[in-house]
Amino acid sequence: MKVVVVGGGAIGLSIAWRAAGRGLTVTVIDPEPGRGASGVAAGMLAPVTEVHYGEEDLLALNLESARRYPEFVAGLEAASGVETGYRACGTVAVARDADDLAALEELVAYQRSLGLEVERLRSSELRRLEPGLAPGVRGGALVTGDHQVDPRRLTSALVAACRRSGVVLRAERAVAVEACSVTSEGGAVDHGDAVVLAAGAWSGALDGVPAEVRRAVRPVKGQVLRLRGPGEPPISRNVRGAEAYLVPRHDGEVVVGATVEERGFDTVVTGGAVHELLRAAIELVPDVAELALVETAAGLRPGTPDNAPLIGATASEGLVVAGGHYRNGILLAPVTADAVAELLATGVAPPEITAFSPQRFERVLS
Ligand code: GLY
Repeated sequence: MKVVVVGGGAIGLSIAWRAAGRGLTVTVIDPEPGRGASGVAAGMLAPVTEVHYGEEDLLALNLESARRYPEFVAGLEAASGVETGYRACGTVAVARDADDLAALEELVAYQRSLGLEVERLRSSELRRLEPGLAPGVRGGALVTGDHQVDPRRLTSALVAACRRSGVVLRAERAVAVEACSVTSEGGAVDHGDAVVLAAGAWSGALDGVPAEVRRAVRPVKGQVLRLRGPGEPPISRNVRGAEAYLVPRHDGEVVVGATVEERGFDTVVTGGAVHELLRAAIELVPDVAELALVETAAGLRPGTPDNAPLIGATASEGLVVAGGHYRNGILLAPVTADAVAELLATGVAPPEITAFSPQRFERVLS
């Protein structure tokens, strides 16, 4: 069976690698694999810290993907020879003032009502755990199960693993999809028994995409900063505040994210966003002020009306979608890839993706 995957981000590459592992012949079409939202993302794997009221189906999928992460990266690192930067470091949620603390207490109560593991911490306990936090923080919570990966290393590993598995990576920009073919900007046409649309925020922008998918996916801008110091970062775990999160890496990098902006396909980095993110990060971790600001970037999350992804077959025979992963694209790569590879290889969608069928938007958005 031959499959053409449109999009070489974390989702498209993971699907390609897993599908090749099932014996399928796979081509990925992307002008610059790993350079879209995956190249901007911080890589916080945070199903518990980022849980939202009323999104229990998404939480279940996020938790399942987090559970698969260690095995996924171990297999990927063995297949590629590239280290992914996966770290089971845990996360602290931090309240800076009384308002933050009230919101955090509500969130912890909700997390506990769902049976999630979260430990409420007093300010002194929090600062004992993370001495780099500002002395004035009011309290917080420890989420031992929320971790991180380095999305840039992850996509490099996926590219290498795909190549070693015989996946063809074609540096083209896809402009149109049909059930069993993809047309690129230069006019080349790739045919397959199936097409997987995994083009992130651009999934709705290609010609031929079914209306329910096109209308469901929109870009949601996120501005992100990368800072770097000479030694280990001033924090050892992910830090989640009300206005910013910080993801520290062993190589000295600290990623600070992220704005959430409805601005269409705009990827301009603004002075105001850099200012706000730095202010929020320095209020939480004062030594961030001493780090070199090495990169600012804006990425486009693929948002959907219910914040959950579209994974599965469309009404268009042979066209499968794996898109709309919104805030969870890096986290959801393992479970999405396994499910789509299973669907492609057997024709049957595994139960974990039934709630995420792209066809759920057919009536709502028509
Ligand atoms: N999950 C983090 C973000 O989307 O900013």
